Amino acid sequence: MEIRDKNTDDLKVLIDTNTLTERIKELASAVDESFKNGDDVYVVCVLKGSVMFCAELVKYMKSKVQMEFIRISSYGNAQKSSNKLKAIDLTLPDLEGKNVVVIEDIVDTGLTAKYLIDLLSLEHRPKKLMFVSLLNKKCARKTDIEPDLYGFEVDDKFVVGFGLDYAGYLRNLPFIGYFP
Ligand code: IMP
Repeated sequence: MEIRDKNTDDLKVLIDTNTLTERIKELASAVDESFKNGDDVYVVCVLKGSVMFCAELVKYMKSKVQMEFIRISSYGNAQKSSNKLKAIDLTLPDLEGKNVVVIEDIVDTGLTAKYLIDLLSLEHRPKKLMFVSLLNKKCARKTDIEPDLYGFEVDDKFVVGFGLDYAGYLRNLPFIGYFP
């Protein structure tokens, strides 16, 4: 089904904007707390889904932040994970000995998280690596990966908004929603 076949008036709000903002402020403080030695913190935003969460998170961080962007695709246009990752751009500076925080929109099967954690720890050998996700769909997990920090647990529904898309659409919604 295409997005034009879906009536966006039917979208239900799962997590509203204020709730998102307040929780993201808490996550920003928790990340700061983990890296309080004053060193730079390299925030790695996993595009495209994490764009809104990452931008909001760094607004409230007090650490010395460097922002980096990588791009991975996994869902295609379907609502279920393809279980296949496509690394579109993994260009990063040398992060050896650095504090690194990977920012994801959602951990679903956990395949992307596992891939990124392995890649960063083996190829970059950071001083400290943290994985932060806005949403955690624990019930869909196919790996033993857990984010170090996450904003909200969601059950097994396909969610959209605040960076998360359906066939490329709805990323711009200021809330997390779902089609009932
Ligand atoms: P994983 O590798 O299965 O954990 O999936 C990670 C990626 O799949 C996320 O970064 C999202 O881009 C996408 N994804 C997983 N669940 C959803 C959802 O409910 N809505 C939109 N995208 C999702």
